[in-house]
Amino acid sequence: MLSKMKINNICCIGAGYVGGPTMTVLADKCPNLKVNVVDTNKKRIALWNNKDLSNLPIYEPGLSEIIGRARGKNLFFTSDVEESLKNADMVFISVNTPIKKKGIGAGQACDLRWVEASARQIAKFCTGKTIVVEKSTLPVKTSEVIEEILVSTSKSEKGKEFYVLSNPEFLAEGSAVENLLNPDRVLIGGDNQNAIQILKEIYLNWVKDEKIISTNLWSSELSKLISNAFLAQRISSINTVSAICEETGANIREVSTAVGYDSRIGKNFLQSGPGFGGSCFKKDISNLVYLCNHFELKEVANFWEQVLLINSWQKNRIYRNIVSKLYGNVANKRIAILGASFKANTNDLRESPSIEICKKLIEEEAYLIIHDPQVSQESLELELESPKGWEFQKNINKVFIDVDAIIILTEWEIYKSLDWLKIYPIVRRPSWVFDTRHFIDADKVKKSGFKFWQVGSCND
Ligand code: UDX
Ligand code: ADP
Repeated sequence: MLSKMKINNICCIGAGYVGGPTMTVLADKCPNLKVNVVDTNKKRIALWNNKDLSNLPIYEPGLSEIIGRARGKNLFFTSDVEESLKNADMVFISVNTPIKKKGIGAGQACDLRWVEASARQIAKFCTGKTIVVEKSTLPVKTSEVIEEILVSTSKSEKGKEFYVLSNPEFLAEGSAVENLLNPDRVLIGGDNQNAIQILKEIYLNWVKDEKIISTNLWSSELSKLISNAFLAQRISSINTVSAICEETGANIREVSTAVGYDSRIGKNFLQSGPGFGGSCFKKDISNLVYLCNHFELKEVANFWEQVLLINSWQKNRIYRNIVSKLYGNVANKRIAILGASFKANTNDLRESPSIEICKKLIEEEAYLIIHDPQVSQESLELELESPKGWEFQKNINKVFIDVDAIIILTEWEIYKSLDWLKIYPIVRRPSWVFDTRHFIDADKVKKSGFKFWQVGSCND
């Protein structure tokens, strides 16, 4: 009987931004479980196993300390998928699910090839009873696909039984460890109550009972999409307001603070910026739009699509503003880019507004000196898709020499304490500072001699 099933071995397929931190915290909180995190990317696995904890493949505050405690005890990173699956009682699927680039649903639907491959690996290598947990953000009804592949195997191979659960991850990059240790809620979707209970008991090792919600599979899958859609919608809303502020003399910080004081609205996710990035928001809303169109809910699809359109519009209008302030010409101008990651405290460049704005500036033949405290030259090369028109500068003191403009694109704390008085003498004048995050002290920048533009402020 499934209710008597004891979980000893866990396997997580995918050692990325979700699988890595989630399994690290789970292993640390459940010392009696053996957790194997598998990935076909051997280079990534080697980095997870690197003795030097500053070389982990992803940057997350607090993560390296926990890895230091758990790795080699009950937490293992390996590329031996077969061996890990053979022994697993529970398998988490945490693989990449990007938007399809080609074919039906291109630009909107999720590319499920990695999920399907994982399901086939599970069907092939797992033995006995296995609880399969989908962790990746997935389109609604993906569990059906996984279930169908698994059930067709269990019917033909005696002794194999699979139970599929949806357990979406709500962690945000940069605060992943904190979100995993103290989640607002843990959501478990499924139709087998015993399987739900078994997964719940694992979480009960560190999460309070009242924070663990169970639903049917599809409510769980849909809730994840909707949570992200609501968060993204708030950002697009406040970004529209930033443009109104720039025209009227209102200040976006003051407006969002005043609005956020209303407890029905709340103060989170009201920071105006260069648009949302990251691997989830665009993908999830695109999925939602695709789903709505599929069910012929045209008005609903249009409503959510607008969130994406505003996001592109915000990036574009900021970019145009920059070019226009630089006399409509950036060719051969040196421009300092502060921040490449899609937000602070992560080295992730996926869908980063900074990357999109950099690409456009390179196209206009500007020369960029890009600084970021955590990203690597190698990952920038992959994202920028251009070997020319930019350089990566790790040393913040060398970024500003002879630049015509400084654009702050990611809200890294170190940019707050820059000494503008010291920077001004080494730039080419007249020189601009563009604060696309509205997070540095406008007076200090202006007093040091720079021309200054800030999102959501009345500018020169
Ligand atoms: C998001 C969800 O927050 C998380 O619950 C889900 O599991 C995955 O997707 P993440 O993409 O890591 O997490 O980052 P998040 O903090 O949500 O920020 C997303 C983007 O929105 C970033 O580019 C950020 O700079 C931007 N943002 C966020 C704003 O522009 N303003 C805000 O007020 C908040
Ligand atoms: P996320 O942000 O959702 O964690 P990532 O792209 O960071 O996404 O990580 C997903 C990981 O899953 C990648 O490192 C990829 O190599 C791995 N992966 C994808 N498919 C498989 C598979 N079938 N078996 C093992 N690992 C896989």
